[in-house]
Amino acid sequence: MIAERLLVDAAATEALGARLVGLLSVHRGGVIHLCGPLGAGKTTLARGLLRALGVVGPIRSPTYTLIEPYEINGVEVIHLDLYRLAEAEELFGLGLDDYPPERCWWLVEWPERGSGYLPSATLTINLERLSAGRRARLEGQATLIAACDFDRE
Ligand SMILES: Nc1ncnc2c1ncn2[C@@H]1O[C@H](COP(=O)(O)OP(=O)(O)OP(=O)(O)O)[C@@H](O)[C@H]1O
Ligand SMILES: [Mg+2]
Repeated sequence: MIAERLLVDAAATEALGARLVGLLSVHRGGVIHLCGPLGAGKTTLARGLLRALGVVGPIRSPTYTLIEPYEINGVEVIHLDLYRLAEAEELFGLGLDDYPPERCWWLVEWPERGSGYLPSATLTINLERLSAGRRARLEGQATLIAACDFDRE
């Protein structure tokens, strides 16, 4: 199933991220691919999700460390930013085995850089820059999309 949302500003992008909490309460883990060009809003969306989960303090993308783990209210999440991954094999050095997607949620910016070495996506979110705002396109099983309650405005 594909769902589309127009995000008029950064607050709308964060709010979409916050909606994903519904998904995290239905499944113990999974992989969310955050796609789109530089500045599309991937980190903003991840921040909205992490804030809604209860993470306090600054949330920046792990641009240099590539991985930032969180454990909050019994939910394990890793935020990956693979933009600076020189080759996909480098993923082996990140200790990802400690975060199996069966019991941990992965938020992956630039998943295409880890292509062939990442678990497949439970949900893919494509962000596209418009002249003003962004368009989000979500792809996943209908039950997953429904768990996010996307049709509630
Ligand atoms: N819907 C939106 N409308 C307008 N601006 C937005 C929207 N969503 C996010 N932004 C803004 O876009 C800028 C880039 O956002 P962000 O850093 O989240 O992008 P990114 O996709 O993570 O970039 P990168 O590829 O560098 O990791 C920020 O200033 C953010 O506030
Ligand atoms: Mg980012």
